[in-house]
Amino acid sequence: MQEKINQFTSEINSFQPKSNDELESFRIRFLGTKGIMKDLFEAFKTVSAEDKRILGKVLNEFKQMAEAKYQILKESLETVEKSTDSDLDLTLPGVGFEPGGRHPLSLVRKEIIEIFKKLGFNVAEGPEIEDDWHNFSALNFPEEHPARDMQDTFFIKKGGEKGDIALRTHTSSVQVRMMEAGKPPFRAIMPGRVYRNEAISARAHCFFHQVEGLYIDENVSFADLKQTLFHFVQELFGEGTKVRFRPSYFPFTEPSAEMDISCSICKGDGCQFCKHSGWVEILGCGMVDPNVLENCNIDSKKFTGYAFGMGIERITNLKYQIKDLRLFSENDIRFLKQFQSEMI
Ligand code: DAH
Repeated sequence: MQEKINQFTSEINSFQPKSNDELESFRIRFLGTKGIMKDLFEAFKTVSAEDKRILGKVLNEFKQMAEAKYQILKESLETVEKSTDSDLDLTLPGVGFEPGGRHPLSLVRKEIIEIFKKLGFNVAEGPEIEDDWHNFSALNFPEEHPARDMQDTFFIKKGGEKGDIALRTHTSSVQVRMMEAGKPPFRAIMPGRVYRNEAISARAHCFFHQVEGLYIDENVSFADLKQTLFHFVQELFGEGTKVRFRPSYFPFTEPSAEMDISCSICKGDGCQFCKHSGWVEILGCGMVDPNVLENCNIDSKKFTGYAFGMGIERITNLKYQIKDLRLFSENDIRFLKQFQSEMI
């Protein structure tokens, strides 16, 4: 009997079923009601009392071993089944991974930055939550200026140390931060998001993006401003783009101007976008008002400078002929996909 048990033990140890059927045959053969185990226990009854003492233990251990082996094999077959069964078809092609692209506003911001960087302008940023001083007062806005109105500005808190706290309405606030923090000369552009309390429509939004420019040094003139902006426009919209300056008013510049370019869509012939005038306004600019320089502790007798500010949305509209501002923030993948090839 001992010999038989040894033989069965090695058979069980080397058994490796490939299917549930094979395992079931194994169970029936060894553990079934008419199986080997049953026979052995039957035979055990007939051995001498002396052999019983030794064989009893051996037989019990053999039974436990056979049952444990069956359990282990059963579980491992189940896990193999789970991972290969089901609807998993390993021959199917993989799910395509689409590369992302830059947002059109980011593309244009990057282009603007690159052009000015080549002219020696640094890039600076400032906070979107601003106080009255940096957004208005230091920029020479009179106390009663309509831009300070609740209608335009999103106020956050009344009466901070430097006036009411609000979401900045323009990036001109970064000029002030820059001038306060350093000493001239300054030559920087300041891209960023700005907020205004406007009803959202195709032509207006409660947030948009601007790029501010500032150049302060000795003997900076309006001619420098014109030449810099002329060069910028040729780079961004192509050689031959015309520019014109119209007198305007901003509290922080004197004199002030608005700059138009020949419509890049109809090339000046007149179209819906330029309202058939052939010209579109793209930015405001001027010579920094001496009051602003003095507010930032810069000697206005020694230093002069120019500033300009443009909306990135407006320039993107022109470059890509986008007519509805809302498209920029809706995250419609069909719109965004059109810019995917332009991964500059
Ligand atoms: N801050 C102006 C605006 O939001 C734009 C602007 C105009 C900026 C003239 C300037 C400037 O720096 O000189 O409409």
